[in-house]
Amino acid sequence: MAGSQGEIASMEDLLLHGLQDMYYAENQILKSMPQMIEKASNPKLKQMIEQHQKETQGQIERLKKVFEMHGQEPRGKECPAMDGIIREGQEVMQEVQDPELRDVAIVGAAQAIEHYEITRYGTMTAWAQEMKRRDVAKLFKEILEQEKATDKKLNQMAESRVNPKASGSRSGSSGSKRASGGGSRKKAAAARKSGGGRRSASTGRKSSSSGRKTQSKRKAASRKRA
Ligand SMILES: [Fe+2]
Ligand SMILES: [Fe+2]
Repeated sequence: MAGSQGEIASMEDLLLHGLQDMYYAENQILKSMPQMIEKASNPKLKQMIEQHQKETQGQIERLKKVFEMHGQEPRGKECPAMDGIIREGQEVMQEVQDPELRDVAIVGAAQAIEHYEITRYGTMTAWAQEMKRRDVAKLFKEILEQEKATDKKLNQMAESRVNPKASGSRSGSSGSKRASGGGSRKKAAAARKSGGGRRSASTGRKSSSSGRKTQSKRKAASRKRA
């Protein structure tokens, strides 16, 4: 670590270290994006990564400006954390053969990257504010907002993958309504998982409730008789 050699002695040094770390990280992320785009099969996901690829190029330019503001040449410092996150994502992507499942893996890998970026830029924005460097804080904040927006889009993508399956096809949508009306989406999903169709799951519920009715009628009748 740079600190062991006494290189980091002030907040300014600390910020510069973070800057070099993220300059390296962003460049590694940018390099990893074409593979993600190529491996993604959902056009929306492809488009989303392509858009963030352009944003990432802009982020690198912003970081260069921050170097300039500190009278420094842009220089990256190896970031083992980001290297690990990227490598892990690539490994999973390569292991998944099913295109739909691979998209899920890509969304997960992309979110891991965004989350790391969010934590770093969040901290660096706070440091810059503490140092009364509003110009620097503004640039970090702009990047931070892009990372957050990307994470949000990835989240929506993950959710939209889950929901269409829950609501299913046209015939399934009435089934899901019934399931939610019955207040048990989980039960319907479990029934689908176990091989029972939505219809059988709902008739199962109906028959059990009518069964309950018959039982109570019988009880009432026996009470009358007694
Ligand atoms: Fe970034
Ligand atoms: Fe990002």
